[in-house]
Amino acid sequence: MPKPIYEQRSKQTEYIKDCSFKPENFINPDFLEKSEKNLPHIGEVDIARHFTELSKEIYGVDDGIYPLGSCTMKYNPKITEKIAASANFTETHPYLDVKDMQASLRVMYETEKMLAEISGMAGVTLSPCAGAHGEYTGLLIINKYHQMKGEGNRKKVIIPDTAHGTNPASCSCAGMQTIQIKTDEFGNIDLVELEKNIDDETAAFMLTNPSTLGFFEENILEIAKIVHSKGALLYYDGANLNPLLGISRPGDMGFDVMHFNLHKTFATPHGGGGPGSGPVGVKEFLKDFLPYPLIEKVDGKYLLKEYPNSVGRVRSFYANFPVILKTYFYILMLGRDGLKKIGETSIWNANYLLDKVKNIFEYPFGDKSCLHEFVVTARNFKNKGIRALDIAKRMIDYGIHPPTIYFPLIVEEAMMFEPTETESKESIGHLVDVLEKIKAEIENNPEIVKSAPQDRKVGRLDELKAIKSKEFIWS
Ligand SMILES: Cc1ncc(COP(=O)(O)O)c(C=O)c1O
Repeated sequence: MPKPIYEQRSKQTEYIKDCSFKPENFINPDFLEKSEKNLPHIGEVDIARHFTELSKEIYGVDDGIYPLGSCTMKYNPKITEKIAASANFTETHPYLDVKDMQASLRVMYETEKMLAEISGMAGVTLSPCAGAHGEYTGLLIINKYHQMKGEGNRKKVIIPDTAHGTNPASCSCAGMQTIQIKTDEFGNIDLVELEKNIDDETAAFMLTNPSTLGFFEENILEIAKIVHSKGALLYYDGANLNPLLGISRPGDMGFDVMHFNLHKTFATPHGGGGPGSGPVGVKEFLKDFLPYPLIEKVDGKYLLKEYPNSVGRVRSFYANFPVILKTYFYILMLGRDGLKKIGETSIWNANYLLDKVKNIFEYPFGDKSCLHEFVVTARNFKNKGIRALDIAKRMIDYGIHPPTIYFPLIVEEAMMFEPTETESKESIGHLVDVLEKIKAEIENNPEIVKSAPQDRKVGRLDELKAIKSKEFIWS
């Protein structure tokens, strides 16, 4: 007869007590709690109810529009979730012999090929596990390329002032120095600034296209010419690839290295730090530097290969496999025409929303149309004492996720909206209605906006402290 649960549990507890695992052997003592925490003893039912209650407080794409600019929070089809959760895949193990994981390797191999085709790159690695990790991996490849050419002195990376924070952070991690250049008043790279700053110590120019202002870089071909003429490489931050799907390819624009954010463009639920996948694509002349292992197909069999000039491993095993599975089936389901429709619809939706939102906020770029997202400024409400943060918090009261705020840094009181292609005219209309209601409140009762959110379990948090503080609070 099996032992009652409580007996099994106590045995397990004994084991944990006896085992020689000592946290201080593995974790820097500075990060260990010194004092005993008075944790409550709670029954399993109560715990289940507690977390169920908390889960109801969460807002996700399945609840409603999630216009968080630069994040592409689109609807994730449930069929790809189902496939990724299938035991056929979840019960495989990365330690299996290569001959026993041919199906998984085939999925990865074909995903690499499809991503290469979509982007105009020659080779792709699926290893990096986030966009930022892709940036870092891409920079390692760029470093290695320059070193192999005997130009290891190239350590400068130029980035525009609209760049995402991960760009300079990845440069630092890769031991490189960032040089920031200005964007002009029309939202394009200032070519004079670029020419002034690029020299024979420049390793790369890192660019997001469309930019975080939501504009396609008008001078991209000229930029590629300038960068290449100085012996530097052009890096593509693929976070905003969504509107280009089926329409335009980074490889054709002159980019040499890029990362994809599979969790954004290829529909994987993400947020709060995961789960992500940031494959890196490169042109033919950089393929040898890709991290290993790389998958090759020889006589109909899939093999794992290591290249002598590779930058090495950038993660354990091969990739964030469930995300790769979702990407693979998402691309297969949509096909060439479906992908193009994604790109086009994301652009239509963003321009439709921009047109409506221009009656509420100031748009600093005149009549310029956008691609998949746009940035407006809430500075027109400053005379009422209202800031972008206040409007964002008030949107929560209306049951809508706020847009990205205060980014990019070059737009005062920035609010960046990205509706994505999966929202209907009605749901975009609902977002506009909410923003119009908030505008009326700012006119008539600004206090309610200033002190929002009104009906949440917690009000205004010290946002920085909420993220950084180690304090454990039990209520
Ligand atoms: C423009 C841009 N670049 C890079 C990243 C980093 O991607 P990840 O969050 O996957 O590391 C983001 C993330 O939002 C982004 O918006």
